[in-house]
Amino acid sequence: MRLLFLADVFGSAGRRAIEERLPGLRDEIGADFAVVNGENAADGRGLTPRLAERLLAAGADVITLGNHVWARDELGPYLARSERVIRPANVASGSPGRALAVAHTADGTAVAVVNVMGWLFLDVPVGPFEVLDELVEEARRQARIVVVDFHAEATSEKVAVARWLDGRVTAVIGTHTHVQTSDARIQPGGTAAITDAGMTGPHDSVIGVEAELAIRRMRTGMPVRFRPAEGGVRLEGVVIDCDADGRATAIEPLRVPHP
Ligand SMILES: [Fe+2]
Repeated sequence: MRLLFLADVFGSAGRRAIEERLPGLRDEIGADFAVVNGENAADGRGLTPRLAERLLAAGADVITLGNHVWARDELGPYLARSERVIRPANVASGSPGRALAVAHTADGTAVAVVNVMGWLFLDVPVGPFEVLDELVEEARRQARIVVVDFHAEATSEKVAVARWLDGRVTAVIGTHTHVQTSDARIQPGGTAAITDAGMTGPHDSVIGVEAELAIRRMRTGMPVRFRPAEGGVRLEGVVIDCDADGRATAIEPLRVPHP
């Protein structure tokens, strides 16, 4: 079984890269299942129902989100009825949507996907360790293959969560920083992990934003309206192989330039 995870899709450049490249990429690498983080697809912040549908149509089996989940008002009602677009588990109780999706590969194998945020340097109401165990248990009741998108800022927290879940899930994929780390690994218990899978979007930028604008805001401390950059587009993520029991056998980082 081969799983493709594509990291944070940023702005229209990232969304175009998914639409133009994902169908072919799935075939070329023989991916049985694709997870796409769509947290930054709408102009760099959040996701809209229309864009979610386009990512699904391009070949995403499940879309995950992150800290910008509520950036677009129209997404809440959509999440409430979506089975394949999920938001982090640790948002305020009573929020619309779910944090666990189960979808199937062409041969009928169930794959569960779980989305959780870190709380170091992110403003979240509930810590990840408060929700992870129950969520993972629920996922494992429904599928042998379980992929966790851990959307977090701090390396330490991401490594800790990956290790905490080692042996219980197929993969713990870090997202949110938009910079791919070189630590893709299979942990001792058989869970694949990477601290950050990177970004599908314009890399000639400051993590997706036009560099000059991001730098100006940092230098001056004044409000600057961000615009997504356009250049240096790459699809980034990881390819994970696992056995029928959901134990990871390989993980490879993926970096595909997109003209
Ligand atoms: Fe994020």
